[in-house]
Amino acid sequence: MAVGIFDSGLGGLTVLSALEKRLPDVPFVYLGDSAHAPYGVRDADDIFALTCASVERLWAEGCDLVILACNTASAAALRRMQETWLPKDKRVLGVFVPLIEALTERQWGDNSPPREVRVRNVALFATPATVSSRAFQRELAFRAIGVDVEAQACGGVVDAIEDGDQILAEALVRSHVDALKRKMPHPQAAILGCTHYPMMEQTFQDALGPDVEVYSQASLVAASLEDYLQRRPAMRGSGTAARFLTTGDPRRVSDHATRFLRRQITFERA
Ligand code: DGL
Repeated sequence: MAVGIFDSGLGGLTVLSALEKRLPDVPFVYLGDSAHAPYGVRDADDIFALTCASVERLWAEGCDLVILACNTASAAALRRMQETWLPKDKRVLGVFVPLIEALTERQWGDNSPPREVRVRNVALFATPATVSSRAFQRELAFRAIGVDVEAQACGGVVDAIEDGDQILAEALVRSHVDALKRKMPHPQAAILGCTHYPMMEQTFQDALGPDVEVYSQASLVAASLEDYLQRRPAMRGSGTAARFLTTGDPRRVSDHATRFLRRQITFERA
């Protein structure tokens, strides 16, 4: 009954830890494509091809359901995968929709027409590929009207996090928040639209100030997966063991992951 979790690198671990807390009986197989990270500077075809290859690897682990714990893959590849590539007995879900449902005060499956919501000014921090896909604005427009979104492409942050360079990552976050505030001085809400960014959540919150509500995805995705598995129990695949797989150097990736999650994580070669 294993479920696959995919990210371009380490960012999806923020989602994985929330999933492990919420669903302790489900074995999760995590695959980080660190050899090809960051995805955020790649084009959509490239992201599609890399994401499909990783999802196939997770099928081989007995995971019929794979969560793309990566906004860049969710934004640039998920729709095309679902429409053109996915076999009928497999499912791939992204991380965007649970977040947008929370922001627009909707329950899962509420397909009523878009309506006015509490938040009016939203800052979106994401990778360059996610920002240029405009997937966030598209999903939001299905559900809400009158919301002004200002997006900031946060170049360099994922690289710094993957390299374990905390000082550089903090400096970059502060300068991206400054750039966003020049375009939108008073956002009410900020979306951390990249699964790496919760590792920098405090820096985002400090730079944005206490009045800005910071939405981060991990717990929203966990609640949504729990709900999904209750409705679709057959999507728990045949795999039985939790594993951590990487296309990068397992020792290096294990060291960084152990530091991020503050517990021993041992990656194997994918
Ligand atoms: N953590 C991923 C995301 O949520 C990908 C970052 C990247 O590889 O650029 O967007």
